[in-house]
Amino acid sequence: MVQQILLNNIEVPGLAGIEVYRKLGGYSSLEKALKSMTPDEVTGEVKLSGLRGRGGAGFPTGMKWSFLDKSTDKPRYFVCNFDESEPGTFKDRHLGQLNPHLLIEGMILGSYALGASASYIYIRGELFYVMRIIEKAIEEAYAHGFLGKNIAGSGYSLDLYCHPGGGAYICGEETALLESLEGKRGNPRLKPPFPAVVGLYGCPTVVNNVETIAALPWIINHGGNAYSAMGIGNSKGTKLISACGHINKPGVYEIELGLPVEEFIYSDQYCGGILNGNKLKAIVAGGSSVPILPASLILKTASGAPRLMSYESLAEGGFETGTMLGSGGFIVMDDTTCIVKNLLTFARFYHHESCGQCSPCREGTGWMEKILHRMEDGRGSMGDIDLLADISKHIEGTTICPLGDAAAWPVSSAIRHFRAEFEEHIKLRKCPYTK
Ligand SMILES: Cc1cc2nc3c(=O)[nH]c(=O)nc-3n(C[C@H](O)[C@H](O)[C@H](O)COP(=O)(O)O)c2cc1C
Ligand code: SF4
Repeated sequence: MVQQILLNNIEVPGLAGIEVYRKLGGYSSLEKALKSMTPDEVTGEVKLSGLRGRGGAGFPTGMKWSFLDKSTDKPRYFVCNFDESEPGTFKDRHLGQLNPHLLIEGMILGSYALGASASYIYIRGELFYVMRIIEKAIEEAYAHGFLGKNIAGSGYSLDLYCHPGGGAYICGEETALLESLEGKRGNPRLKPPFPAVVGLYGCPTVVNNVETIAALPWIINHGGNAYSAMGIGNSKGTKLISACGHINKPGVYEIELGLPVEEFIYSDQYCGGILNGNKLKAIVAGGSSVPILPASLILKTASGAPRLMSYESLAEGGFETGTMLGSGGFIVMDDTTCIVKNLLTFARFYHHESCGQCSPCREGTGWMEKILHRMEDGRGSMGDIDLLADISKHIEGTTICPLGDAAAWPVSSAIRHFRAEFEEHIKLRKCPYTK
């Protein structure tokens, strides 16, 4: 059985309450850090652990913390990104709802390391029921002296707030999130300056994902070296994967990074194989924003090596033959899936969610949706395929934030790997999958 760091005890009844959480060893990392470690020592363990941000980009967490501007006497903020709106991704809500104190303990550790005295959990508006659970857990943490003034007699004080978003996907982008937290429309900011220098209310800020923060208590309790002993290459530790689509056992799994993709899909411990014994057609491995891969390239890399669930292995071959681990939203498609229709669903989403600041994203996402719509309807022409590819190329890398790339990559990769299916729609003048 894989070491469970995040989902350990997740099925214990009452885990969301502080009594049960404490009985199972909860808040011990906090007591350890506040009693015997300086903030820099906490950061040092996080650096040693090799933990990388679990929100999608995979940036090393300890390094991100070390960028925080400490040369100013402005307040510093630690912010948890609980927006989780990426299609196919549902790991953070699972963890936050069932084990809210793990997140709160991680928030306090991170805040202590960064020298923050006020911190925020920014939660997606639709997850109101999860927010209620987290708010209750925050109240309990205050009542037990883990939040507020002079935490556990250490002299360190922290206030923690939970703030709901309005339900816009773009508010998951960290600078849009900060704008929204400040009460403004969630438009991404131009970078630089990065939040580590100019973040919330113009002050140095670190934004981390729920899962990243929830790994901190284990790292402090067991040490960074113990965490980095798990995983493979520069993909250390464990990762939550939310698996959905045409599989026998959809759900949230904690895997050790480096697990073969084939084992993840077919073993009974995880996805349990493809629904109805159908054939695997394609996978979107890291949430809707990453390139789609056909079965032939997801089980093995182009060089024939087994493809592993790791940042490096999934990316092997670049975008020609690889993809990204992203947020860990693993969408499985069997051979009954229409790639064009699937892409249309994604395109509609990105068009709807574009904030509209950059013309390539604002105009391009709508244009791609329109073309995909007419193709799926049997009204496309052969020229539409290259037009789509061309639009996606002109969005990539030309926008303020990566939502533009996120909209473009699924399109360019689908054309790269499934061109024949687009052509079939056009030749037949209908979707071949629609009866
Ligand atoms: C359009 C868009 C949506 C995003 N949504 C989320 C999200 O819901 N949750 C998240 O943690 N990161 C999201 N990110 C990534 C964040 O900008 C940021 O990289 C992340 O919160 C940093 O935390 P980490 O280093 O712990 O991963 C999104 C990025 C983009 C461009
Ligand atoms: S890429 Fe799209 S979502 Fe991001 S800032 Fe530009 S218009 Fe807004």
